[in-house]
Amino acid sequence: MATYAVTGARSGMGRAVVDRLVAGGHRVITVDLADADVVADLSTPDGRTSAGADVLAKCGGVLDGAVMAAGIGPMPGRDMPRRIVEVNHFGVIDLLEAWRPALAAAGSSKVVVIASNSPTVTPAVPGKAVTALLAGDGARAAQALNRFRGRASVFAYAASKLAVCRWIRRQAVTPAWAGAGVRLNAIAPGAVRTPLLEAQLADPRQAKLLENFPIPLGHYGDAGEIADWVLFMLGPAANSLCGSVVFVDGGSDAWFRADDWPRSVPLRAIRGYMKRMRAA
Ligand code: NAI
Repeated sequence: MATYAVTGARSGMGRAVVDRLVAGGHRVITVDLADADVVADLSTPDGRTSAGADVLAKCGGVLDGAVMAAGIGPMPGRDMPRRIVEVNHFGVIDLLEAWRPALAAAGSSKVVVIASNSPTVTPAVPGKAVTALLAGDGARAAQALNRFRGRASVFAYAASKLAVCRWIRRQAVTPAWAGAGVRLNAIAPGAVRTPLLEAQLADPRQAKLLENFPIPLGHYGDAGEIADWVLFMLGPAANSLCGSVVFVDGGSDAWFRADDWPRSVPLRAIRGYMKRMRAA
């Protein structure tokens, strides 16, 4: 029996993951706004601090894995850009930083973050907001996003997910994560039938965008199927998975950017490797 922490555990994909882990005989510490082992509002620094500490107390300092599924969608509202980046970006990285010692203490552990295909299928995601998030500045990110008025929430959603994917890829390979036996990866679903998507479909403007959005396989994703992928990424088949963002989106990412990926490594990025070669 392993011990996992799951955020966003009472609904949608998080709940489907919890059902599968419990059915597999594992212990799950759930985190959510209500109906959870750890009740916390991840949109505030205090909520994130208490969620981090409460999970550590409940797991006794050892976690075999974590699934970060808490998130909010791109809904209209003046304060939404800030809330979106707080929950979707800082609600992932602040908790993972708090839990890293417990994940390392397990000797071999796995983290799956539920990201999204929005960073690669949303045109012109504001770079300033992503840079601000990676610098830890939610207020500056919200300021950059609020300039876009009607599109601020959509951009906030894509920026929050892009920043979290960049953070994962930068951190995953470091001694603190890979070197400590912690596999850090993300899954990037397209639109999945959950309460989050239903809320978007209830808004006529967003419904029009979603209904005309190219999904080559022709259907929305299913929360249970995404949960099956997450379980796979927590299991032994994923022992060599490190810093990957796995797209499970019905083909939308490939439809928009067939030739963008894989792409060869830029020269500036292999300087460290060349230095090692010369020193060897
Ligand atoms: P959902 O709305 O069914 O579940 C989200 C969960 O997060 C809920 O239980 C909610 O209470 C919790 N949550 C929201 N704000 C919170 C806060 N401030 N503090 C603590 N918990 C909070 O949504 P769904 O679709 O299952 O989303 C799961 C993740 O997947 C999210 O990160 C979402 O951005 C992402 N995603 C969803 C897609 C979709 O089409 N449904 C597509 C791609 C990614």
